[in-house]
Amino acid sequence: MTHNWWRGAAIYQVYVRSFSDGDGDGTGDLAGVRSKLQYLADLGIDAIWFNPWYPSPMDDGGYDVSDYRDIEPSFGTLAEAEKLIQEAHDLGIRIIIDIVPNHCSDEHPWFTAAVAAGRDSPERTRFWFRDGRGDQPPNNWQSRFGGSAWTRITEPDGTPGQWYLHLYSSRQPDLNWTNPDVHAEFADILRFWFNRGVDGFRIDVADGLVKQEGLPEVVDPNGPLPYSDLDGVHDIYREWRRIADSYPDKRVFVGEMWLPDPQRFAMYLRPDELHSAFNFDFLSCPWDAARLREVVDATLAAHAPVNAPATWVLSNHDVTRHVTRYGRADTSFSFADRQHQAPTDPRLGTRRARAAALLAMALPGGVYVYQGEELGLSEVEDLPDDVRQDPVFARTAGRDIGRDGCRVPLPWAGSTSPYGFNSTGVEPWLPQPADWAASTVEAQTGEPGSMLELYRSALRLRRTEPALGDGTLTWLSVPGALAFARDETFACLVNLSMATVPLPPNTDVLLASGPLDGGLPPDTAVWLRTHQAMTPLSS
Ligand code: NOJ
Repeated sequence: MTHNWWRGAAIYQVYVRSFSDGDGDGTGDLAGVRSKLQYLADLGIDAIWFNPWYPSPMDDGGYDVSDYRDIEPSFGTLAEAEKLIQEAHDLGIRIIIDIVPNHCSDEHPWFTAAVAAGRDSPERTRFWFRDGRGDQPPNNWQSRFGGSAWTRITEPDGTPGQWYLHLYSSRQPDLNWTNPDVHAEFADILRFWFNRGVDGFRIDVADGLVKQEGLPEVVDPNGPLPYSDLDGVHDIYREWRRIADSYPDKRVFVGEMWLPDPQRFAMYLRPDELHSAFNFDFLSCPWDAARLREVVDATLAAHAPVNAPATWVLSNHDVTRHVTRYGRADTSFSFADRQHQAPTDPRLGTRRARAAALLAMALPGGVYVYQGEELGLSEVEDLPDDVRQDPVFARTAGRDIGRDGCRVPLPWAGSTSPYGFNSTGVEPWLPQPADWAASTVEAQTGEPGSMLELYRSALRLRRTEPALGDGTLTWLSVPGALAFARDETFACLVNLSMATVPLPPNTDVLLASGPLDGGLPPDTAVWLRTHQAMTPLSS
């Protein structure tokens, strides 16, 4: 396990701003995280992934980095990060941090130097500066946050100037990976953090670093894009892998790429590239037995040839929380239609989310837990417009209300806001709902039917049950249920049908996501100790 620790790891995602506010200013910070490390150790996770913790103007929640070798001052200091890494390691928790290589902040010294240095300067070649077509942008590329992917600068002499590319907000200029400076800089940044003990990096927009030569127009927005998944990107990860492998104990990369083609996706996971990547097909999949089985099969089939472990992800800081998604008529997720404020049945969503957690944690590979999902938090859909901070809201003129609703600060204790997020009572940076008293860690601890106790039990079992984590599965024939065995002694059944499914004979219940009524009710999952081989599903 130590050597290949990531293959079956349970990795907890900390969105620092919203996790715990140690200094009491309304924004989460490293002091807050340090004070909750024991909570995370007791939860039973193997590693933490931190969203970007670097100095940032926070135009995009820290994905606009102005210094890759320091800590955002409102989060703490580099010395504190070093202590945190050590304390986590002492508790057996590994640390993965975000790296943002596709773009930086417009306040990064490279970008301000590029603007100041003027046309045709070497500084501008670290970015994508181009002349426009008259007063139009150089091409038709669209920002993933809405609007053109190009913004025009004013030249140092005051004249209207060149345009620069930004696949996200205008405050996130894209770096130009054809420039050797960019390669050297990121190689050095990786080493900077590896030398401080981080165990791995989550790579933001891992598919986006290489742009097609000549920056051609997008002809079909649903076809291959000239700024995503170009073959050249793999050379970068080979270079990075050599750096990771130069460290004695295993350091890892997890890629963030939303790609339609599982085979192209798996190319990133070849033995000399990234170790793992987020499985967004699973996250996006509707609550439907046949579709889930298809996704599981396609995932395992894509990962097997490259011998990479799959990962199972239900939520993160970019998507609608799954308690909310699963309580809607359409339970799928897509950025194109986030179904904001669609009617939701929270009890149904919660029941399914509990079952989904047991499913995700029983599947072969690693699992991600986004902070607050262990508390069963739902999306906060009624934030007032004037508190919204996600640039998506402004760039789409409010047509897409954005991602703030899954980033609301966590409730730890007490019956009113800030629910123990801090001890000063200062209003958190996003307001918390008035009805979160029953969702706090304090309220759920020791409550047998709570989401938190379910996660604790499941994560604990995941560590002690040899069948769980890395490995394979065998689909089982259990009419009415999505069912699989991990070995001769362990099976997971999920009932996505409308009727109760009888529990198979010669089994003991290890853990159930809800009351069992003598059988497995709809929208419920169970982990079983099996005492005799169960019938495999014929293909
Ligand atoms: C993906 C990150 O998860 C998201 O939060 C961010 O806005 C974009 N990449 C741009 O960095």
